[in-house]
Amino acid sequence: MRLRRVKNALETVENSKYIILKPESHKGKFNEIFGNNNPIYLEIGMGKGDFIIQNAINHPENNYIGLEKYESVQMRAVQKLECLDIPNLRLIHMDAENLNEVFDKEIDTIFLNFSDPWPKNRHAKRRLTSSFFLNIYDSTFKGKPHIIQKTDNIGLFASSIVSLSEYGYTIHNCSLDLHNEDMENFETEYEHKFSSKGQKINYLDAVKE
Ligand SMILES: C[S@@+](CC[C@H](N)C(=O)[O-])C[C@H]1O[C@@H](n2cnc3c(N)ncnc32)[C@H](O)[C@@H]1O
Repeated sequence: MRLRRVKNALETVENSKYIILKPESHKGKFNEIFGNNNPIYLEIGMGKGDFIIQNAINHPENNYIGLEKYESVQMRAVQKLECLDIPNLRLIHMDAENLNEVFDKEIDTIFLNFSDPWPKNRHAKRRLTSSFFLNIYDSTFKGKPHIIQKTDNIGLFASSIVSLSEYGYTIHNCSLDLHNEDMENFETEYEHKFSSKGQKINYLDAVKE
């Protein structure tokens, strides 16, 4: 992903009412931030935010946290949220590698949307569905680990299916053409870009029993 340095991005992100500053201080008690015990859905690599914002607006019965490591990207989501009041949505600016410092048995589902594919074998550990990351996610889940992935990249998709299966996940639902399935779907920015060029979107829903 090509990144531009954006002036004041960190300041803009940190000043947003949606951002959780010092997220590690809420470890094990994120439900207090939302003021309820509704399920918490976490999107890792939220990018510019369309997916998590639409989910939160359409599903007030759930809580949503969007996580992104680059402030210049997350700033775009923060700008979209400026005039909106969405009580069941929060954002965190951090790298998913540090998730264990922040969450303890409180996440219902992790969304991985159009994650960087890292096609070279020597970079396989960096894929967000590698065993390295699946191991990090384990202790964040409240109940059975549950991951939903969307991607245009068939190489990443295949690698995810192998990695999730080897790690003990069962793929409950899978599609090579999500947009032709009869199911609710909120598009991400990348998804919109790829599907408008005619590319098919891959989807999987996996649970570790
Ligand atoms: C290809 S973009 C997709 C963005 C968005 N999900 C979409 O579909 O439009 C991948 C995003 O994941 C973020 N990302 C990659 N690795 C991450 C990590 N370890 N922790 C947090 N965010 C990460 C990147 O900064 C980038 O914004």
